[in-house]
Formats: sequence, structure tokens, C-alpha cells
Amino acid sequence: MCGIVGYIGNEQAQDILINGLSKLEYRGYDSAGLAVYDNDEINVRKKKGRIKNLVEVLDTQPLTGTLGIGHTRWATHGEPSDLNAHPHTSSDGDIAVVHNGIIENYLDLKEMLIKEGHRFISDTDTEVIAHLINKHYDGDLLKAVQAASKELGGSYSIGVISKKEPDKLIAIRKNSPLIVGLGENENYIASDIPAILNHTRDIYLLDNDETAVLEKDKVTVYDENGKEVGKQVFHVNWDPGDAEKGGYDHFMQKEIFEQPRAIADTLTGRILDDSIRLDDVVITKEDLENIDRIHIVACGTAYNAGLIGKSFIEKYAQVPIDIETASEYRYKDPIITDKTLLIVLSQSGETADTLAAIDIAKKAGARVLAITNVVGSSIAREADDILYTNAGPEIAVASTKAYITQVACMMFIALHLGRLKGLVSDEKLKEMTDALIDCSKQVQNALDQSEDIKNFAMDHFSKDDMFLIGRGLDYSTCIEGSLKIKEISYVHSESFSAGELKHGPIALIEDGTVVIVVATQEKTFDKLLSNIKEVKARGAHVMLIAQEKHKDIASEVDQAFFIPNINDDIAPIPAVVYLQLFAYFLAVARGCDVDKPRNLAKSVTVE
Ligand code: F6R
Repeated sequence: MCGIVGYIGNEQAQDILINGLSKLEYRGYDSAGLAVYDNDEINVRKKKGRIKNLVEVLDTQPLTGTLGIGHTRWATHGEPSDLNAHPHTSSDGDIAVVHNGIIENYLDLKEMLIKEGHRFISDTDTEVIAHLINKHYDGDLLKAVQAASKELGGSYSIGVISKKEPDKLIAIRKNSPLIVGLGENENYIASDIPAILNHTRDIYLLDNDETAVLEKDKVTVYDENGKEVGKQVFHVNWDPGDAEKGGYDHFMQKEIFEQPRAIADTLTGRILDDSIRLDDVVITKEDLENIDRIHIVACGTAYNAGLIGKSFIEKYAQVPIDIETASEYRYKDPIITDKTLLIVLSQSGETADTLAAIDIAKKAGARVLAITNVVGSSIAREADDILYTNAGPEIAVASTKAYITQVACMMFIALHLGRLKGLVSDEKLKEMTDALIDCSKQVQNALDQSEDIKNFAMDHFSKDDMFLIGRGLDYSTCIEGSLKIKEISYVHSESFSAGELKHGPIALIEDGTVVIVVATQEKTFDKLLSNIKEVKARGAHVMLIAQEKHKDIASEVDQAFFIPNINDDIAPIPAVVYLQLFAYFLAVARGCDVDKPRNLAKSVTVE
């Protein structure tokens, strides 16, 4: 969380930095700030709240200069306030820093620095970095940054400028994302690619403990021992338009409507006549024979996609699976051996808990397969096998297109492992890949019903509670739908396995309670029909998502949506789209900030 940007070149830095920050606001929006060098001074403007508040300050007090750094904050240490906003400076104002991450030993460092005469003005961990660099400065900013970093514990990506060396911008990375954008007579740093897409698509992916020195016309990267590193230029194939709203009211809405294309992009080039080709998934038949268990680990929505993936792999490859959220996995002494395959899912590829889970598994000898959306992300770089979702940049905090493409990728993995084990016939492979190809249309069909979904949301947006019920894969879809509803509309929602209703939750149903029933699976359809009757008898308002073959039960419910008939295992992909749209319209009707829900940030790079 937190987003950082930096610019050095011939253009005025202020607008470039603000534009970059606006693309990173999904990472945190408690405060924003800029530090720009001009005429032997570093001038800082910072403001609590959204970037627009900072822009209002800049309207009356603009910053001039062609070297600067910027920050958008998700508060960890110290409340959101003007004072705690980044950038932070040394006592003499010579050095300014922006930071993403957490300095775990900041209290010890602060105590030491205070004894040495440094004056602190904020409650943040970040301020120690500026003082520490200043302490080590004796005419060489690079050396001072490197010396300071040796004393810093925790995770960080940092951007530093100094008025003593206004021809450079220094960046350092340890366990928090950071890229360097390479322009012509100008260079950039950023926490994520969208921040620089308008300027360049050529980047360096910094590795942990690397320091980059950016000058206008060159970038030099050093390893932790101060040795120069020859970095390869990485060309990003995202379109700058992908990171804009493109006529939609919200990024989330745009991303929901992009899903037919996203799913098609996930499939492109991977389905061959009689096999599937999975980029950098290099597991062989022999490797698989040596794997006796699979762990699936992820957080939030990615975990929910993992739940569906567990069912797929158990069904098609018949390997026992344990699934765990990364925050639990890392502290619970999971049984991991060199025969374990860890599958992680992560849109951003930067989630701290997921990275920690990988670390634990690798130390115990496990093989790691990552499904991620961000090429070159930390998780992609740590994994042995990688499958990219190819969903394009996801900017809205609530994940949508990343989820459905993760589910599609999990089906690919299941089929691939099943093929290696000889469990998936040519016919089955064709049936499933045809169904995957077809599901873009089913997703489009869901989008085409958005007016009716909106109307149901408008009828119920003032409700305090909503419940979602399903069984098997439908239950997993409900878990994801429930997360979408609560995170963006702040309506309390819970998902239940429908079979559990009678064991307690049905006590919650009263006149007018909204119950969303997902019933796309043939083998449990009749059971869900009974559940519908049970909750209807107690006054529930029921919205149903089912396949078209069951259209005749529309009259049993208050609102029904039907997916054109589809293979049951692929049905979760279109089914969730109705729930995403419902959550979206609910949030809009309640006046919520859809793209930036309160207290959340998109990329959870701290624990
Ligand atoms: C919810 C959401 C989060 C993320 C979670 C993991 O809509 O987006 O629950 O899924 O924070 O993030 P990634 O996938 O980047 O590891």
C-alpha cells in the first residue's frame, strides 16, 4: 500500500507527479504530497485526504522544478493528517523522501537519532529514513542512501532527492514494489506501471536490495554490495488507455464490462488442437509424480478464486488440496515438504502475506506456481512456474476481471495436471476448452442484463443485511459476491452453504430480507429450489442466478437471471458477474466511493 512516484527530466515535475499519483491512488488515499527541487530549495506540499485536496493546494501554491517525488498514503504509523503525509524531510530540509512499506525498527532508530539532535515532527516510521540519510551524508547521496538502508529493518521502496545533488533521484527497493521508467532525457520511478504508462513503456524491474540512481539521461543500478548491475529493459505491452476510465463512471464498472475481452485474452494462444500451452508452467509428468499434495494460498478475492480452483484440481487431477488464506498459512506451521506444490494467486503479485507464504514454502523445499496479473511482479519473480491472467491493469480496489481470469487459469491448471496424469481425455479437454471459449458470450449476456440488476439493487439499497446461498461451486461464488457487496457498498452481507441454513442461519430470515441464490449446478439445483421455498415462506426477497434450462422457476422468486446453458464447472465465471454488477449498483445507489472504498487499498504490501 502507498504509492510513490518520482521524476527527473526537463519538464515541470508537478503535473507529471500528480498524474502518476492519480494512477496510484488505488494504493491508498489517506493523504498525498509532493517534494520538488527548485533554485537550491526543496519545496513540499502535502495534504490529508485524496489527491484532489493536494491539487487544490497546488492551485494556489504551485511547485516549479524538474526534479521531484510524490506519494499517496495508506496510513500505517500515525493517523492520516497533513503532518504525517509524505514526503518527509530531514531537519534541515536538505533531503526529502517518499516511502512505501514499513520500517519495523523505526522506534529504536528514532530514539537514537533524537539523542543525536535530530528533530522529528511526525508520528511516521518514514521520517527516520530522511534523518538517517542526512546523518550518513558527507558529500555522496548514493553512499548515504546505501548506508542508511543497511540500518533499516522491514520492507520499503523509497524515493530520495537532495538539494545538495539536484542532478539525481535515488530509489531503493526491499520487499516493496518499485519500477524505473526509462524515457528520453527523463526518467521515472513508480510503485506500479500505470503511473508511468503515459510517458514510457520501457522499464527496469528493480530487485530487492537494488538501488537505482536516476539522472536525466541515464539510470545506473547497483546491488546491495554497491556493484553496478546490468539491467534488462522490460517492455510493457499494456495500452495507456487501459489505465483510463474510458467513458465509464468508475474503474470498477469499466473493469466489469471489460470482462468478455479479459477472459478472451486469458485464453488467447493457450488452447491448441489437442493440448493447452501454459507459458511458464513447466511442470512435467515426472515432476507431478513427485508431488503428493497441493497447497493453494492467496488473500481476499484471489483466495475465493482459489476455492473454485481447489474443486477443479481435485476433480480433474485428483490431487488432495489444502487451501488457506496467506495470513493464516504463514503462522500455522503447515506441513510442507519437497513434494509439495504451492499454488498462489495474486492480482498484484505484491501482496505481503502471499509473498511470505512463498518464502516459507520455498525454504521447506516446495515448488511454487503463481497465477498473477502483473508481469515481473515480486510474486512472479519468486515463483518456479507462472501463469499470467492477462487481464490488463485492474485499477478499482475491488477485484473483478482479475477474479474471473484467475478462475479460468485454475481450470487450465486443473486440466493441465489432469492431462499429465492421464485423467483428462482428448474429448474432455475439448469440451472444457470449448466451454471456456464460449463463456465470454455468457459473461456478455450477464452484462446485457445490467439494467434489471440495477433495478433490483435500487429496490433494496437501503437494506442493512443481505445473504447469499449456494452449494459447491455456487457457494464459492457466493463467498466472492458477498465480499464484493460488503467492501464497496458497506452493506453487511454473508454467504452460507445452503445446506447449512437449517443449522442456524435461517433464523436471520424475516420479512423483506434479501437472499441471493446462486444455483448453476445441476446436481444441487433441486436442493436449492427447496431452500428458495424455505426462505420465501419466511418473507425473503429472492434474487436467483441459474441456467436457462431452469427458466420455468422464475415465478418462484422475486428476480431471476438466467445464464445461457453452460458446462456447470464454467458457470461460476458468468454467475459472479451478476453479483459484481449488483454490488456495484448497490454501492452507487448508496453514494459510496466505488473505486476507493473506505479503509481499503488495492495492493496490500504490508502485513
Ligand atoms: C477484493 C480484493 C482483495 C484482493 C486481496 C489480494 O476485491 O481485491 O481482497 O483480492 O487483497 O490481492 P492480490 O490479488 O493483489 O494478491
